[in-house]
Amino acid sequence: MPTTIVFASEKGGVGKTTSAVNLAVALVIGGYKVLLIDMDPQGSIRFSFGVKTPAEKGTLQLLTEISTPLSDLISTPNSSGLDAIYSNIDTLNDQRDLDRSGMDPFSLKRRLTNEAQHYDFVVLDAPASTGALAVAALTAGDLSILPLQCESLAIKSLKRFLVAFKELQGEVNPSLRIAGILLTMYDRSLEVHRRICREVYDALYDTVFDTIIPKSKEITEASAVGQSVITYGINSIGATAYIRLAKEILDRFNLRPRGA
Ligand SMILES: Nc1ncnc2c1ncn2[C@@H]1O[C@H](COP(=O)(O)OP(=O)(O)OP(=O)(O)O)[C@@H](O)[C@H]1O
Ligand SMILES: [Mg+2]
Repeated sequence: MPTTIVFASEKGGVGKTTSAVNLAVALVIGGYKVLLIDMDPQGSIRFSFGVKTPAEKGTLQLLTEISTPLSDLISTPNSSGLDAIYSNIDTLNDQRDLDRSGMDPFSLKRRLTNEAQHYDFVVLDAPASTGALAVAALTAGDLSILPLQCESLAIKSLKRFLVAFKELQGEVNPSLRIAGILLTMYDRSLEVHRRICREVYDALYDTVFDTIIPKSKEITEASAVGQSVITYGINSIGATAYIRLAKEILDRFNLRPRGA
């Protein structure tokens, strides 16, 4: 069975998609078979890989059409070796289809259990909310990564999210664990970032990844040209940080490739 990693936060724009894409690519480079799923109607994963045309089949069918096999929903961005399911919850009608389906929170978990056994990792990019799509992602997850920007509003939002997270663990997924809080877009030249970073480590030390994702121009540039920062600039500080994050996760949870 794959290990399912969910990027989640209630606050938007904290680096969930960037981190999901780059962790997935780092794991592929490390020799793992990875499926990346966009659970966010914004569809940012597709744009992160520079794919201009909307997906005909994607997350909508994943969640509402059990008769369509998971293998029919997969795209392979940039021949990267990564499998991806893009979000195609594009219109109000799509949203209505999703609502009509009742969004059984366990449906995604069941599909991954039945149809994604051949992957080592499934990486889910959840929307910035505690709504049905985020709940479905967290219900299917083994490990959750909570990206956090070094700003006080983000910490307030994280505290709120942790309460919802605990409720969800109790109600639908007791085996879900926090893999770690991931500090993102860190600018060490800013005193406020250094101070908030210290406060986060002091308060939540062993829950916070040692790896910090720096604010980096290569990450911005890579995203603008539809690439992961790892393929865009393997030696850049952004790529190095995401490769380090992948190693930290593998070590922290004692995860190794099959047959290794
Ligand atoms: N480390 C970084 N350095 C520079 N820019 C970054 C970094 N991480 C993310 N960004 C940029 O910040 C913006 C928000 O990042 P991203 O889309 O990953 O956040 P998100 O949490 O997925 O947002 P949303 O909640 O809207 O889905 C993007 O334009 C992205 O390119
Ligand atoms: Mg996003």
